[in-house]
Amino acid sequence: MELAGAVVIVTGGAVRLGKAMVLGLARAGARVVVHYGHSADAARQTVAEVEHIGSEAYAIQADFMDASAAQSVIARAVEHFGHVDALVNSASIYEPVGVAETTEDLWDRHFAINLKAPFFLCQAFAAQLGDRRGHIVNIADWRGTRPTASRVAYTLTKAGLVAMTQSLAQALAPNVQVNAIAPGVILPPPGQGEEFVARLLPSIPLRHSGSPADIVAALLYLLRTTFVTGEVLYVTGGQHL
Ligand SMILES: NC(=O)c1ccc[n+]([C@@H]2O[C@H](COP(=O)([O-])OP(=O)(O)OC[C@H]3O[C@@H](n4cnc5c(N)ncnc54)[C@H](OP(=O)(O)O)[C@@H]3O)[C@@H](O)[C@H]2O)c1
Repeated sequence: MELAGAVVIVTGGAVRLGKAMVLGLARAGARVVVHYGHSADAARQTVAEVEHIGSEAYAIQADFMDASAAQSVIARAVEHFGHVDALVNSASIYEPVGVAETTEDLWDRHFAINLKAPFFLCQAFAAQLGDRRGHIVNIADWRGTRPTASRVAYTLTKAGLVAMTQSLAQALAPNVQVNAIAPGVILPPPGQGEEFVARLLPSIPLRHSGSPADIVAALLYLLRTTFVTGEVLYVTGGQHL
């Protein structure tokens, strides 16, 4: 896909990795929809930074606990830009909770935000494409294919996201390419510092963490390729191995 002038939605695009992807897309010439949940000020700031780069951005709020609100992001983006060429599903919650502590409420929140909302966004995105070509990139996690003992609800949603990527790659072909990125240690979780990253370094074969720029490079590759679909691109320094 030619990114100059393309319209790309990034869910959770106001902060952290989502914001890095928004700015990377803007630098590549794309016009960007910055979806946000609660981070209104950060979304406004991100839109301003895109405009400073010289591209266009439009912020849309939606709480992904509500699947129909999530789906409405597509219609609102189409209303603003006329069409959408690509969807990046990055919004997600992550609560490092084990089996015994997993409540039904925690389970439901993870599945609503991390899996149900992305599915209905993909459905609405594909419907507005008509005969045009498009791309979906789902931001998963390497734990989605190599589950560990902890973070069980989160891990299951990311496993579902990988399966959804492979299923939709077939269901929406030939017009839509559907791929996933499986990040490793890129940014410490909110509230945690560099010591969180340092503790994990022995488990990473390349012995360093990744940066948001690594995720942006993977995203731009997947949006530009014309012959890759249903793929999971691991950006982990080998941690998933
Ligand atoms: N950081 C890493 O090293 C790492 C590693 C592996 C995988 N990942 C994956 O990469 C993606 C981005 O990671 P991150 O660390 O930048 O994520 P993050 O800081 O946890 O950000 C989560 C995003 O999800 C949005 N969100 C949360 N609850 C929402 C809700 N109810 N409705 C709508 N949006 C909601 C937030 O939007 P608001 O703030 O606007 O509410 C925020 O933009 C995620 O899918 C994550 O699983 C990240």
